[in-house]
Amino acid sequence: MTPPGQVLTADDMADVVGRFFQASPLARRWSLEESIDWTSIDPARLTVGQSSAVQFITLIEDHLPGYFALYNDYFPVDDTVDRETFIHNRELYHFSVRWAEEEDTHARVLARYQTAADISDEHTLREALAVEGQKKFQLPYTHPVQYFAYALVQEKATQIYYQQLRDVCEEPVIRDILTKLSRDEARHFTFMANVVERAIQCDGDAVVGPIRDVIAQFRMPLADTMRGYWRWALKIADTAAYDHTDAYEHLIRVIDRAVDAKSSKLDELTGFIASCRTV
Ligand SMILES: [Fe+2]
Ligand SMILES: [Fe+2]
Repeated sequence: MTPPGQVLTADDMADVVGRFFQASPLARRWSLEESIDWTSIDPARLTVGQSSAVQFITLIEDHLPGYFALYNDYFPVDDTVDRETFIHNRELYHFSVRWAEEEDTHARVLARYQTAADISDEHTLREALAVEGQKKFQLPYTHPVQYFAYALVQEKATQIYYQQLRDVCEEPVIRDILTKLSRDEARHFTFMANVVERAIQCDGDAVVGPIRDVIAQFRMPLADTMRGYWRWALKIADTAAYDHTDAYEHLIRVIDRAVDAKSSKLDELTGFIASCRTV
């Protein structure tokens, strides 16, 4: 059994984090300043719906400080935890700080795009982002695996959405940005998937209930705090559907892959996840 407070043993966490860094070489990194050809921007090719979708995903990416803080609160790297837990949390932190840096770049590139495409001006945008950014972000979780199962769904849902939105957009710079973002989200998804897979292998039926609760109560970030979230989500669905349940089949695959023969509880869990999909 994995010690309480940890999602994996420290050795397993170090291994999964190491694989994330292996999959994130320097050649794959990109920056706003060097990797985007801002001179080729052509806002006239952006529809009203696409422009609204860009505003929506900017808000989602920009809530990063609250999201990152959640992981540091739940997996502290200080003297409030015992030595073994600290070592586990310290290994996780190698990932989470890099993850946060990449997500922060997503927020920054989308904000830059909005001003470059005249969707908003810098000051109006900063104010608008601050309204949502200042609201406390919480996840009602009590088991460590839940923080990874949640992020697994969220990373995959975002990756799928960015690909779909890119496919309908004709504006070249947003197409390039969405391609870069979806590749980053795919790597983030793989990290979360590797953690959840290993947790199932180590703890089996003990993580079934906690994962089930994540799916039963699933809310995308900002869904509970942002005014008009659902109206907006519906409005942009005409442009490209933003449906987090698209990610559920990927969670089912992770569970299937984790064990050779599923226990009846794991079997019931994959059936439940499948039943939660939007059809
Ligand atoms: Fe992101
Ligand atoms: Fe991500």
